[in-house]
Amino acid sequence: MFVTSVVGARPQFVKLAPVHAALVARGHEHRIVHTGQHYDSDLSERFFEEFEIPSPDVNLGVGSSSHGRQTAAMMIGLEEHLQNGPCDWVLVYGDTNSTLAGVVVASKLGMAIAHLEAGLRSFNRAMPEELNRVAADHLSDLLLAPTDNAVSHLTREGLEDRTVLVGDVMADVCLATRDCILASKPVSVDEPFLVATIHRQENTDDPARLSALVRLLATAPMTVRLFAHPRLQARLDAISPSPLADAENIEVHAPLGYRELISTLLASDGVMTDSGGLQKEAFLLERPCLTLRDETEWPETLLGGWNRLLGEGASIPLGFPRADLERVTARPFGDGRAALRVVTELEQHDGE
Ligand code: UD1
Repeated sequence: MFVTSVVGARPQFVKLAPVHAALVARGHEHRIVHTGQHYDSDLSERFFEEFEIPSPDVNLGVGSSSHGRQTAAMMIGLEEHLQNGPCDWVLVYGDTNSTLAGVVVASKLGMAIAHLEAGLRSFNRAMPEELNRVAADHLSDLLLAPTDNAVSHLTREGLEDRTVLVGDVMADVCLATRDCILASKPVSVDEPFLVATIHRQENTDDPARLSALVRLLATAPMTVRLFAHPRLQARLDAISPSPLADAENIEVHAPLGYRELISTLLASDGVMTDSGGLQKEAFLLERPCLTLRDETEWPETLLGGWNRLLGEGASIPLGFPRADLERVTARPFGDGRAALRVVTELEQHDGE
């Protein structure tokens, strides 16, 4: 079987790692097309090196611009490259503009498309990711859903015939990395701290909203290590006076590699984030999380109170991150073998 993965943004490289390994282990040909949506080494190259994923066969190098321009540039490049060589499946990942470009081009070329992480919904159409997800699900031929909730959304939209539950490949990576870290050295206990990230357009691009979020982090009862996506760094730099000026407990750091991130989460006391991936990682690693949004695509993380939504104007709940949270025994993100199931489904539906 010949599979072409279309990827472009940081979380997609994490998902690509177990999928690539599983495809190769089963003897399939795997071609990687990188749109170039993320191009900083910290967000891109470092993940290929860390996970030992081969360099992309093609990098379209589109870079950053408005949604329309960026997606259009990807589409032009993808139309040229997707048709090169045999291809049984075009595999797209998640909800980014790279995914949208991939499904629009591949569907018009009549190619079979599988959407990994299908069926997530925030029900907030103001989010670019929500628009991308809905379009990707409805244009794809095989919907690889990570959770029961995702299956329910797809069923409600009339897509159940194309849907299979495979589990979450990000859980595969997270659990394997955790086990590897815990087997190699004890987690160092330093001063108490929280891990924080902010990168969603709706949080970064309105200076008043971003300043309010920084003030919120400043009310945390301990040091906050804020790992800044370049978009966040640029937006913070543009606000004068800086909202960080009075925030003595906030340390701003460069983004982390994957293993470093998991080690840091294991050493931390809790998480404050607007990232979907980090909400899940906090849940899987049993760190209490506050999500800096009004809704989440991963409602499973709310189980047992491990994740709580902190919409606009809300304050940090009393006692956070200390909390007597009960261990969740359910495994809503699967058993850490989702990537193998992805490959099995691609094999079974090949040529349909
Ligand atoms: C994108 C995805 C989002 C995903 C996130 C993961 C879309 C619509 N959004 O958001 O779903 O959660 O990736 O990180 O596809 N920039 C750099 N260097 C880079 C890349 C970006 O400096 O390598 C800066 C640029 O100023 C750019 C901004 O970040 O304009 C936003 O980048 P973009 O790729 O548009 O979206 P993300 O915020 O990264």
